[in-house]
Amino acid sequence: MRPNRQELIEMLSLKKKDEIEALYKRAYEVKKQYVGTKVYLRGLIELSNICTRNCYYCGIRKDNHLLERYYIDKEEVLKEARWCFEQHYGSLTIQTGERSDKSWIDYIEELIKEIKTLTDGKMGITLSLGEQSEETYLRWFEAGAHRYLLRIETSNPELYKSLHPAENSFENRLQCIRSLKKIGYQVGSGVMIGLPNQTVEDLADDILFFYDEDIDMIGMGPFIPHHQTPLAYLLSTFHPEEALEQALKMIAATRIALKDVNIASTTALQALHPKGRELGLLAGANVLMPNITDTRFREGYQLYEGKPGLNENALAIRKALEESIYSIGESIGYDEWGDSPHFKNKKNTPSENL
Ligand code: 5AD
Repeated sequence: MRPNRQELIEMLSLKKKDEIEALYKRAYEVKKQYVGTKVYLRGLIELSNICTRNCYYCGIRKDNHLLERYYIDKEEVLKEARWCFEQHYGSLTIQTGERSDKSWIDYIEELIKEIKTLTDGKMGITLSLGEQSEETYLRWFEAGAHRYLLRIETSNPELYKSLHPAENSFENRLQCIRSLKKIGYQVGSGVMIGLPNQTVEDLADDILFFYDEDIDMIGMGPFIPHHQTPLAYLLSTFHPEEALEQALKMIAATRIALKDVNIASTTALQALHPKGRELGLLAGANVLMPNITDTRFREGYQLYEGKPGLNENALAIRKALEESIYSIGESIGYDEWGDSPHFKNKKNTPSENL
């Protein structure tokens, strides 16, 4: 049943601490019932910060000339992928700035194939490589990727327009999400929470957007201003505690409304609070994406201010993660792809079998 907009607005507007705590608890119960308390890990490789876009909020936007640009070569990516596999993460996510030139598309295709071969087809591959043509999405799917993350950033087209240059249309982004679904990817999307001029109504509509577009995986995080972007002026009025709370309420409301989707507890939460990712799990999230990129590239991938883990190597991250997951009484789905139950449930619906 389509979630009730008014109820979503009420959840997202809660102000009293005890009511907010009760919301998290309710979300946690829904999580236990529909997806369980096993956390799935996706090793994250930030493959390149070279980006052709100029999103006003993002630290790796094309016009940020203060940034040294990098990409990681094949040999190194394969090394990181092997490490991820040996750590039993079960699944790998490749994320980059957006590029659509032929050599890049070919490089990604090659990487996907080689990672599949390297891991005997066992490692799940998720891509987060921005807007591409349907043909490109199809090539990468055929090469072996099976999930794709493309945040809508906000489901309000006017707000979207205020955050992006005119050439980046909301309609094209939506079309990309639909193409991915048509091809057969498990589709992840999400939004930033606390954008300038974003209202609780917008956030409620974001959840309805996920429902209407039948999204399988959700990745949402607080918007955090970055000093080398056009939105840097928002840094002086930024309140980390409020941003964290709004993001956690959004995770909880999404879990309560959508039930069987995968929801990531994102790094941006951790940027605002040392226990941010545990708080995310306790508010209804069930996926973590530990960064496995070599530390020498981390400086170059600061999408927002204070991104954590700059010097933390992949092994240290793994240890800290395990501790934080066990500390809240949850377990880890090692060696599992951890597909979204929503995607699997859909596959079994009678209409699919007709
Ligand atoms: N604050 C929070 N999240 C950000 N992203 C980009 N810039 C910021 C920021 N300043 C998010 C976007 C993008 C994802 C990779 O990172 O939602 O889709």
